[in-house]
Amino acid sequence: MKTFQDYYNNKVELSFEDHPFDKHPKHVWVICRYENRWLLTEHKDRGKEFPGGKVEEGETPEEAAIREVKEETGGIVKDLTYIGQYYVSGKSEHIVKNVYFATIGEMESQPTYYETKGPILLEELPSDLDKDPSYSFMMKDEVLPISLTYICNLSVFH
Ligand code: GTP
Repeated sequence: MKTFQDYYNNKVELSFEDHPFDKHPKHVWVICRYENRWLLTEHKDRGKEFPGGKVEEGETPEEAAIREVKEETGGIVKDLTYIGQYYVSGKSEHIVKNVYFATIGEMESQPTYYETKGPILLEELPSDLDKDPSYSFMMKDEVLPISLTYICNLSVFH
């Protein structure tokens, strides 16, 4: 278990155990890879981030992950791997989010990308994105680098 503060100074606990905080988390976040590049979306307010969102009524977190990737980027998930889960203790609320790694098989242009401006493909993630205002706050705490280190050691990663 890793504990740190997020961009807004909320406490975050991150674990790679099997659903340590909640068996039915309401949020998902998906680190996506398409043809040797990272696939992100550009949220209209928050900026560049990996896709994700809320689990809808009657949906599993895995179904939500696949749906959110398609809605926000047009990416069709080929393989989805559970990475871990994090707990954010906010000022008035808390959230639990599953982190996944997804390999994208193909990209399908979407009629709408909802609250986002659609897909962004990057060869490399900038090392100083925590100082870059064009990136979302979600990309600016330890969840991303710790998860990336974990993912880069997976056999499914390429
Ligand atoms: P909407 O219904 O989409 O407007 O949701 P919301 O703005 O109430 O936000 P949400 O329920 O997604 O999250 C509640 C709060 O949790 C946000 O204001 C964030 O501060 C925090 N939060 C959500 N996702 C993350 C995340 O991935 N990382 C961190 N550190 N905080 C998050």
